[in-house]
Amino acid sequence: MTMSFAYAAPGKVILFGEHFVVHGARAVICAMDQGVVAESETKTDGVLSVHSALESADVYINRPIQSTSRILRPFHHIARSLDCNGATLRIRSDIPVGSGLGSSSACCVAAAGSLTAICMPDTGMNSTESISIMDVALGAERSVYPDSSGADCAACIHGGIISYMRGSFKTEAPPDDMRLVIADSGIRHDTSKMVGMVREMAVTKPGIFSALLADADTVSSKAIQLVSACDIPGLGRLASENQRLLERLGISNDTLRQMIQVADKHSYGSKITGAGGGGCIVAIADIYNAKATVDALTAGGYDAFEVRIGRGAGPIN
Ligand code: MEV
Repeated sequence: MTMSFAYAAPGKVILFGEHFVVHGARAVICAMDQGVVAESETKTDGVLSVHSALESADVYINRPIQSTSRILRPFHHIARSLDCNGATLRIRSDIPVGSGLGSSSACCVAAAGSLTAICMPDTGMNSTESISIMDVALGAERSVYPDSSGADCAACIHGGIISYMRGSFKTEAPPDDMRLVIADSGIRHDTSKMVGMVREMAVTKPGIFSALLADADTVSSKAIQLVSACDIPGLGRLASENQRLLERLGISNDTLRQMIQVADKHSYGSKITGAGGGGCIVAIADIYNAKATVDALTAGGYDAFEVRIGRGAGPIN
């Protein structure tokens, strides 16, 4: 009997602590209301037939994972971890790729959720199961990006706002009126390259780096208090403080700085979100100033949009 299953996974926005989280500091991340849907269907020919906007091809599950292209390797990894005998996997996404909004982790989580349901149908959709989806999805992400802190997959799976440190997380209730404004620089980045650059700074300038790491951890801890106090302007000021630390890491550039300048005039504060070098900025806003922030960024020639904090990954009925 053929089985099929669809699973949705949101993109993510790192509010505080990107890069520093790789080195053990706390980060604060949220899921967004845009994401990826993976639909899979069983077959038994030992082939994972992937259909996606980036690449469509047949992956031979028993062949070495390294023989598969970088784009399809995470899916190959998932099929192998689940002892899958074959499947058709269709991926649809409305998250821009290489922009720091968690497109690759959302693909890993959505594919892991959907393939787990058809390859291991006895696994129930409960919290124990979501831990195994985390393991499968993070393993897949690390098949192409071994340094991943796991923060992106955790935010995608659990939804809302989470604080995350060294593999453990805590959920935080988002302030009702909080809105985020995202603006995309249109400059695509490679997360591994940016993380490698920061790692080099950690090695070559250990004194400066550990001071920045301690400051970043303090910023994230303050952010958690401000989330529970629903202090959205305070979160904006903290975003600007976090941005000063990211500037010191050397992951910013003139385009991102110009976008931040525009966003800061209307929102409570803004910063790079994700690996930097390009990608997106996030402005902390609420129901009163989100539209003015989007309009100002759009008038400045940037691709800007409002996002709400989204739910975690889960099956689609
Ligand atoms: C990438 O979305 C976030 C980084 O902190 C890397 C990571 O957490 O693995 C830059």
